[in-house]
Amino acid sequence: EAELYSLYKGVYVPTCLHPPESLQYYEEFTFRPDDILIVTYPKSGTTWMQEIVPLIVSGGDPASVESLPNWDRVPWLEEHRAKVLNLEERPSPRMFSTHFHNNMMPPSFFKVKPKVIYVMRNPKDVFTSSFHYYGMTSFLVNPGTTSEFLSTFLDGKVMFGSWFDHVKGWLNAENKECILYISYEELLMDLKESVARISQFLEKPLDAKVTEKIADRCLFKNMKQNNMSNYSAVPREFMDQTKSEFLRKGIAGDWKNLLTLAEAEHFDAVYKDKMKDVKYKFVWN
Ligand code: PPS
Repeated sequence: EAELYSLYKGVYVPTCLHPPESLQYYEEFTFRPDDILIVTYPKSGTTWMQEIVPLIVSGGDPASVESLPNWDRVPWLEEHRAKVLNLEERPSPRMFSTHFHNNMMPPSFFKVKPKVIYVMRNPKDVFTSSFHYYGMTSFLVNPGTTSEFLSTFLDGKVMFGSWFDHVKGWLNAENKECILYISYEELLMDLKESVARISQFLEKPLDAKVTEKIADRCLFKNMKQNNMSNYSAVPREFMDQTKSEFLRKGIAGDWKNLLTLAEAEHFDAVYKDKMKDVKYKFVWN
């Protein structure tokens, strides 16, 4: 199973999704100042943002979220698809996703400083979402038991490496004025207010009615119905949604249904140690 992954700039990536030529393509990619980048550690709210951002950019017009799968609408720059999507030709503002750590970003990123929306989520819920996801996909190593996967996750021996390093790296990024930090929990607590915040950051003012319409479309129950966002187009041998759905629960705190008290306490202890120098006020604390 180990050969499912390759090591790139110190983190594991699933080889079939990110073959060397795709990573090379990304390394040489040229950004534009008005590019919009959704940056996440996996399972932190990528798909959600791939719905919200195009709707804001289009002023609420749902054409793109109804006709383009999320991976074409806001493609991952590290994925094998990026190369064939002719991204150089896309009109501004281009929208991209990436799971890269800050220190993995290509040279053009640091030169051009495009806009970044960095989405964070309670790592215990990231762990929980990942556990179910690893169990339903054929391109990721089987998670084993909860306690086995807990060690793997806390050691960063999962795709895109350690959650702690990812979050710390982006919180310490140089060009903070180009980065909007937002959390999955904030989106859950007040989606309308979050949409307003994101539109302000993108300098795309929306009137209250449009903001409300976008927020409604991006509710979990509504996104689940969107075949362009619920991964129903992915073949079952690749992602088996009879085992667990991609848009699975969409809540905060589901870790309580997976971790034992002792496991949660161990998680918290590791968190406390690894995050001791971080000043950022996370809403889940
Ligand atoms: S990936 O594979 O990295 O692109 O996954 P990602 O999209 O980052 O994370 C998937 C989790 O986000 C949840 N999700 C949502 N929650 C609430 N509301 C909306 N609209 C929404 N869209 C996606 C999704 O259900 C996954 O979380 P879990 O906890 O597994 O349900």
